Amino acid sequence: MEIRAKNLQVAYGDTVVVDKLNIHLEKGKITTIIGPNGSGKSTVLKAVTRLLNYQKGAVYLNGRELHKFGTKELAQQIGVLPQMHTAPPDFKVKDLVSYGRMPYQKWYKRNQEQDEKIIEWAMHSTGVYKLKEKSIQECSGGEAQRVWIATVMAQQPEMMFLDEPTTYLDISHQLETMRLIKKVNQESGIGIVMVLHDLGQALEISDHIIVIQNGKKYDEGRPEDVITAKMMKEVYNVDCEVVWLKGRKKPLIVYKEIC
Ligand SMILES: Nc1ncnc2c1ncn2[C@@H]1O[C@H](COP(=O)(O)OP(=O)(O)OP(=O)(O)O)[C@@H](O)[C@H]1O
Ligand SMILES: [Mg+2]
Repeated sequence: MEIRAKNLQVAYGDTVVVDKLNIHLEKGKITTIIGPNGSGKSTVLKAVTRLLNYQKGAVYLNGRELHKFGTKELAQQIGVLPQMHTAPPDFKVKDLVSYGRMPYQKWYKRNQEQDEKIIEWAMHSTGVYKLKEKSIQECSGGEAQRVWIATVMAQQPEMMFLDEPTTYLDISHQLETMRLIKKVNQESGIGIVMVLHDLGQALEISDHIIVIQNGKKYDEGRPEDVITAKMMKEVYNVDCEVVWLKGRKKPLIVYKEIC
């Protein structure tokens, strides 16, 4: 499976925020979109998953334009975790995760045995099984974030789109979530497209990185080719060195001292 955006333009009212964007997203890979605040990352993610209309260009899933898909048909292919998400506060964890199965259900048949198994698998894999009787309101920010990831996993999409999946997480849970994402990708072959702000994590986990600057693609490619001191200066206006340490597979970003 693959998604292609060709000459994509997205605007809010008269303001164009994404322009002339060409990207190719493939199943099996981890693709990370990086770029400064307000550069258009979430807008791109929404436009390629049909959460937002585009004005010009087109988005194709396996060669067929996105708007030609039925809602459930599309939801079996792509699962999305937007940057901002809320659930009714009295929703139980297991109820939210079971919503992931909706694209596979008929209105007259709720959860079948197979659905239950997948819901339990998603909760176990994300470590939220012990929270299943809690309401979302009773979860911490990090716990709730993992419940949302479980919900997208229960959807068993071909590709998962995650907008800043590590928001609210402490460093241990950030790394755990990154490992979980890598595991999902490697074991199930699910394609991952995510937005990350931690460029060190992006370097380590991604197969492919797309850099967005002012709504346009600045660069894309292998992490170590894209994340360079030049890019950091030009896109983020930050001084750093990208250094290779013996014994590590990927380079590290060493920022100039703050003071
Ligand atoms: N619903 C909206 N209506 C109007 N303008 C919007 C809307 N959503 C986003 N924008 C504007 O579009 C631009 C891109 O926003 P977007 O949310 O895609 O950025 P982002 O790269 O995801 O930023 P961040 O890293 O802060 O999440 C910004 O200038 C933002 O103010
Ligand atoms: Mg965003």
